Amino acid sequence: MIFKKVKMEDWFIKNTSCKHNFSESGVPDFTLDEFFQKIKINKSVLNNIFLGNNSTWGSSGLRKEVSCTYKDVKPNNLIITNGTSEALYIFFNLFLNSKSKVLLLYPAFPLLYLIPQALKAKVYFLDALRYENKAELLEKLILKINKIKPNLLIINIPHNPLGFTFNEKEIIEIAKTAKENKVDILFDEHYRFLPINSTKKIFTSGYGIANKFYNRVFATGSVIKCAGIVGIRAGWMIADNNTLNKIRDYKDHITHCVPLISEVITGLAVSNISKITKNYIENIKNNWSILKNSKLVKEGKIILNYELEGGCVCFPRISGINTFKLAEILAKKYSISIMPGEVFGKSGYIRINLSQKQKEFGNLLRKINHIIKNYGKV
Ligand SMILES: Cc1ncc(COP(=O)(O)O)c(C=O)c1O
Repeated sequence: MIFKKVKMEDWFIKNTSCKHNFSESGVPDFTLDEFFQKIKINKSVLNNIFLGNNSTWGSSGLRKEVSCTYKDVKPNNLIITNGTSEALYIFFNLFLNSKSKVLLLYPAFPLLYLIPQALKAKVYFLDALRYENKAELLEKLILKINKIKPNLLIINIPHNPLGFTFNEKEIIEIAKTAKENKVDILFDEHYRFLPINSTKKIFTSGYGIANKFYNRVFATGSVIKCAGIVGIRAGWMIADNNTLNKIRDYKDHITHCVPLISEVITGLAVSNISKITKNYIENIKNNWSILKNSKLVKEGKIILNYELEGGCVCFPRISGINTFKLAEILAKKYSISIMPGEVFGKSGYIRINLSQKQKEFGNLLRKINHIIKNYGKV
């Protein structure tokens, strides 16, 4: 397998020393102390964690905890993996080859197409930025599924970096079309625990909706980016028994298991999720509203696209300055990191994280305005 470079990681490494971080796709990460203060549980619960081998399936405790966040998923319908990256890597290796066709909305989290491409699958991209409204996007997606009849359709909701999600009706339409065309569906639901709406409830999984009438549905899930524990590196995959058994066997050849200490912290994050995300969700909503009402948007220097419905990032278009230059000036001059769209193959756009405090976010917007004025083309 020949892998193309993950440009996003290069950008993170280059800007790791920036004081103000708006380039990540997750909420700000905790220290261990801060995490336990947030969930109001005594850290001594870690004292008796076994440091020997953990089950390759994941501990029964975490599988149970995760299954409770879905409607019809039992602990033995899922496997715990080292980040969802491991789940995706194994899943793609099991399902794809040089004859496979994959359909994916673009821009997208790079591993969703880089691994299929490394396996020589043909990846079809549907450029979501050409549509700017979800009804139109959905219509094009349905047309594409019917036309391409891919072996695998990847649906990432809430979407990184575009921030939209599909509701139950939309998911049913997608899944029915997939079923008619015998297309497997993989839901990547990394940001399911960050609903940006009035319900305060985590999103119903696309898996649960589609699986009621179609059995070729799979899902990956995670809490680490929504709960500020990215370094804990746990994720999961939901699939049929046969696929889960193969994933388990595959894990024997690579990481074997997720350390129990990571799983215990992940379980605590899942069971205390609303305590953890409450303030972040408020920040995201406030900052999104500040952005929408900002002078930058009113003057057309920032052009928004999809309404933010979930997760903590958006991907606006910037006018008047090269976005790579904007990101470089922000980093070098002000120690602020954002993600230039170039990293996603989308020059003219930036990905910004909305979960920081309002004051910090306001400062970011002021600096962007200043840089466009002073360094942009008039
Ligand atoms: C949509 C999406 N899928 C998968 C991943 C992989 O995440 P991890 O391996 O950290 O769980 C990410 C990380 O940013 C992501 O945004």
